[in-house]
Amino acid sequence: QPIYLSDYRPPAYRVTRTELTFDLDPNATRVKARLHVERHPEREAGVPLELDGEQLALKAIAIDGQPLAPDEYQVGEAGLVVHRVPEAFLLDTEVEIAPDGNTALSGLYRSSGMFCTQCEAEGFRRITFYPDRPDVMATFSTTVIGRTAQEPVLLSNGNPVERGELPGGRHFVTWEDPHPKPSYLFALVAGDLRKVEDTFTTVGGRDVTLQIWVEEENLDKTNHAMASLKRAMRWDEEAYGREYDLDLFMIVAVNDFNMGAMENKGLNIFNSAAVLTHPHTATDAAFQRVEGIVAHEYFHNWSGNRVTCRDWFQLSLKEGFTVFRDQCFSAETNSAPVKRIEDVSFFRTAQFAEDAGPTAHPVRPDHYIEIGNFYTLTIYEKGAEIVRMLSNLVGKEAFRRGSDLYFARFDGQAVTIEDFVGCMAEASGQDLTQFMLWYSQAGTPEIDAHGEYDYANAEYRLILRQRTPATPGQPDKQALHIPVRLGLVGTKSGRDLPLTLDGETLGTDAVIHLREEEQEFLFTDVSEAPVPSLLRGFSAPVKLHFPYAREDLAFLQANDSDGFNRWDAGQRLALLALDDLIAAHRNGVEKVMDQRVVEAFRALLAAETDDKAVLAQMLTLPSEAYIAEQQPLVDVDAIHAARTFVKQSLALALRDDFLRVYEAHRIDAPYAPEPEQIAARSLKNVALSYLMAIEDEAGLEFAREQFEADHNMTDVRHALTLLVHSSRGDIAAPALKAFGETWAHDPLVMDQWFAIQVTRPQSDVLDRVTFLMEHPAFSLKNPNKVRALIGTFANQNPVNFHRADGAGYRLLADTVIELNRLNPEIAARLVTPLTRWARFDETRQALMKGELERIRAEELSPNVYEVVEKALA
Ligand code: ARG
Ligand code: ZN
Repeated sequence: QPIYLSDYRPPAYRVTRTELTFDLDPNATRVKARLHVERHPEREAGVPLELDGEQLALKAIAIDGQPLAPDEYQVGEAGLVVHRVPEAFLLDTEVEIAPDGNTALSGLYRSSGMFCTQCEAEGFRRITFYPDRPDVMATFSTTVIGRTAQEPVLLSNGNPVERGELPGGRHFVTWEDPHPKPSYLFALVAGDLRKVEDTFTTVGGRDVTLQIWVEEENLDKTNHAMASLKRAMRWDEEAYGREYDLDLFMIVAVNDFNMGAMENKGLNIFNSAAVLTHPHTATDAAFQRVEGIVAHEYFHNWSGNRVTCRDWFQLSLKEGFTVFRDQCFSAETNSAPVKRIEDVSFFRTAQFAEDAGPTAHPVRPDHYIEIGNFYTLTIYEKGAEIVRMLSNLVGKEAFRRGSDLYFARFDGQAVTIEDFVGCMAEASGQDLTQFMLWYSQAGTPEIDAHGEYDYANAEYRLILRQRTPATPGQPDKQALHIPVRLGLVGTKSGRDLPLTLDGETLGTDAVIHLREEEQEFLFTDVSEAPVPSLLRGFSAPVKLHFPYAREDLAFLQANDSDGFNRWDAGQRLALLALDDLIAAHRNGVEKVMDQRVVEAFRALLAAETDDKAVLAQMLTLPSEAYIAEQQPLVDVDAIHAARTFVKQSLALALRDDFLRVYEAHRIDAPYAPEPEQIAARSLKNVALSYLMAIEDEAGLEFAREQFEADHNMTDVRHALTLLVHSSRGDIAAPALKAFGETWAHDPLVMDQWFAIQVTRPQSDVLDRVTFLMEHPAFSLKNPNKVRALIGTFANQNPVNFHRADGAGYRLLADTVIELNRLNPEIAARLVTPLTRWARFDETRQALMKGELERIRAEELSPNVYEVVEKALA
């Protein structure tokens, strides 16, 4: 059942042109397809024509105008075979499909009454019979016929070329997309939509019309996405020399969507959560997320669409590169160090966990059962880290030359990761052979480092040893090429010392290359004892162990010239303190707060000059999930107790500082999602969360005020969350009720209302989850709702999800079983927390595996089957 990368062959037949006609109907849409087919020049003649197709009722089939006799073809579960075909021919088919019954949200489906599509990766085969693979590229012409009243707007890829009225209250629009594309980039939208329009003139002088299509009530939530789009278009011209290539670029917001968004050529379709913003409904984080996703999908026009993937094993070719591109874009428009801190903390929490679990896979997998399961943090985020390493290895200029070469050489083609890395090697003259292992080896490499300062000889000897743990199917690993950016910070001067390695002067911040299992680096002319600042900016996606003393970490936190490592030193210091407290909790010993952490925080709070956005990050303790990631065995209760203790100790010791910081960063100006305001809000809200950790009277008053002032969703949501998570039900309950009533009409705000409630640490929360599942605003058919309620509970409420009685696991398994029938892709994602059973104690392991087995006993979709099989293997 799995398919293998090593089995790749070019398609036997290719399609050069695809002409589609959709006669839309909620229950019986007719799709006529005319395919211009020819034998692939590299493949032998006389091979039967095999087309993918799922859940299609075939109504007619003809070759070169001649209807086929029943014995000339065969329709099965997965597609259609025509036994004998000419070398080149026209294939006409007509099928019937049922968009209303499509709860998988793959193919053509309906969302809030509107028709829309999602074809990546393999949804097009649920629309018509087709060679549904990315290396088949055709120009498309699409005629969409709908009811004039219900579907006044009919959209598809490219440019509209014809429109007209039809009898029976129907009308049509024909779209022509001149750029050859694979089927996964096809899109169609039809419904009662309104648009916001703007224009953009490309550097080459092309006037592009920009449209964002939404439901009428959301017309006031598109400004930020439009502004982000224009910034992204300009940025791609400047940073990569990439210009837009059609006269029209459209974005459509839909409420029911499995992922964030989709880069269909000229017609990006977005989860409404990834495009709509308004100061009253979206937080700062949501504004930033929208900016990032709008840019991401736009950037795909080159990294993905113009140059696409040969096969789905190459998925990271477009996703890793495009994530890297959107990260760089966001870093430039926001606080760069904070963007890096946020990305890395997320990465080290979630991708490290994936890489250490039963579904670990290389950035380029070599086999899969269901490609829908491979839209993962590894493919996306680790893929982006690899591209970032490449960019740092070859240098900015060579990287740009390499990407120019890549886009020029492979424009209009479906290519591989070797093609991309090959361009980088060619442009830089570097040998990237060993580097390629990053794509094929799964698991997070660990570096054990230690160093010695030789005072007499003024030398610092740094020894690095690497190992990558075994992962499923990959017991033995080879040494990787790991770039380690570092500095040596002088303990006397507090400055970066000049680096001399093997007689070469490297400046004060340099990259050393670890290629062997163990390597020694001898720095000479080191004039004072240093503390090494290693892996600056997270220069490689690895775990770095160095036996830092706590004093060293406090020193780095105060003195490191690298903002990222300053933050990381603080995190490491806090983690050491947390380790002690976790042990104390487990041993029933009295908890004692490490005063070094208190002093480090005191110093941070006193240093007014610091970048406020970074300061807010430095004042934020590692999340429970990240702490768990560091533990050999996860004890959710001990982690929660330890973290709460640290938070409360800091709040008690530094109450006045937090009060001062809170008051100093209130904003009177109208809301703007701009770096300075965002920084001030996050700092103020971090301070508030400390005050609320001890339920300080002044803090409570601030929270209540902030909620009632209703200035913007960032402040309102934060205040409400703190109240709901506190023991003050007397204040929280009415606030929650008011919020729920005010926003009952807005699904995106109701998602937040669900999430706020189910992250509450108190033990009554599970009943709350069950109760909310019956709420009229909740629906299992809507992925955003599932994520907000069940996903948030299972992933962000460890103490309650991992209840010792297994009730949290049972609830998740019940939901997975139901969703397996409705939406396999979402079901397979939702099951993830259960697959991490090996990280827990024996009792919990047994309970989690029991639930996985209960799921396995069902009739499973390939998606859920693949994940559950791996988890139980
Ligand atoms: N290519 C899209 C993006 O990264 C994601 C599409 C995912 N589709 C899916 N069925 N999982 O922007
Ligand atoms: Zn993408």
